[in-house]
Amino acid sequence: MTSLIVVAGATGKLGGRLVAALRQRGATVRALVRPETTPANVARLAQLGAEVLPVDFADPGALTRACQGAGCVVSALAGLRDVIVGAQTQLLAAAVAAGVPRFIPSDFSSDYTQQAPGLNRNFDLRREFRAHLDQAPIAATSILNGAFAEVLTYNIPLLDFKRQQVGYWEDADWSIDFTTMDDTAAYAAAAALDAATPRWLRIASFQPSPRQLVGIAEAAAGGSSRWCGWGPAPTWRPRFSRRGRPTPPASSSSTPTGSRCNTC
Ligand SMILES: NC(=O)c1ccc[n+]([C@@H]2O[C@H](COP(=O)([O-])OP(=O)(O)OC[C@H]3O[C@@H](n4cnc5c(N)ncnc54)[C@H](OP(=O)(O)O)[C@@H]3O)[C@@H](O)[C@H]2O)c1
Repeated sequence: MTSLIVVAGATGKLGGRLVAALRQRGATVRALVRPETTPANVARLAQLGAEVLPVDFADPGALTRACQGAGCVVSALAGLRDVIVGAQTQLLAAAVAAGVPRFIPSDFSSDYTQQAPGLNRNFDLRREFRAHLDQAPIAATSILNGAFAEVLTYNIPLLDFKRQQVGYWEDADWSIDFTTMDDTAAYAAAAALDAATPRWLRIASFQPSPRQLVGIAEAAAGGSSRWCGWGPAPTWRPRFSRRGRPTPPASSSSTPTGSRCNTC
């Protein structure tokens, strides 16, 4: 297999890491960037050793030429329907027209195949693009890495540093998949260079439960603080919002009435 890998979304957080990981594995990398991208973005990717190619995704001929010779096209595009379905479908068509044998879509999410449609917009967009991908004459590999581990530093309801609370749904011992962006990029790079990867790859850097997160948070504070886990009121339903992030009901700015703490 040729070791030329085309990366779309190379200026992004995951895309940049992916370019670096591919270069570390000795791949030749063609990084697709938007024509209007900044010189600093081009310089950063060039410094990693990538061929940087500005291309307009709305130009099928240019996009097909950009994909020519690649063993795999990897998408690290991020956005809403115009990107996840629109731009990725343009990229897929170009990869097929260029005769590229393999495509890795910008899934990089929790396992949306296990979620019912209609609960999470981002998962629905991935499902919509998947329908195009699975019809196309090209082999595909989706990488399902859970949440990026970095979200644990964003003061989310699951790990609320301000209230020293861990929020969870239904089960304090439910293991949640997290993968760092670096691990995701390294894994995606290895997959891009391996012609034999299956349709689905499910990975996680670590899988803490809410109960374990309470212990981890307390240990990180050197035992100087007490954390509390709070669960749902009986009427709550499991629900996911943007980026697979759990959404408590509007009234849940503090431990909700009717909930009980199962972790402390
Ligand atoms: N599992 C998780 O917890 C988690 C968390 C965050 C993200 N993700 C997923 O990881 C993937 C990468 O996300 P990211 O955080 O690296 O995104 P990002 O930093 O926002 O980068 C997005 C990339 O897509 C490019 N792009 C967007 N729209 C485009 C268009 N119309 N045409 C061409 N290029 C376009 C951007 O180019 P410009 O620089 O020119 O704008 C940029 O290179 C996405 O699938 C995202 O949903 C997962």
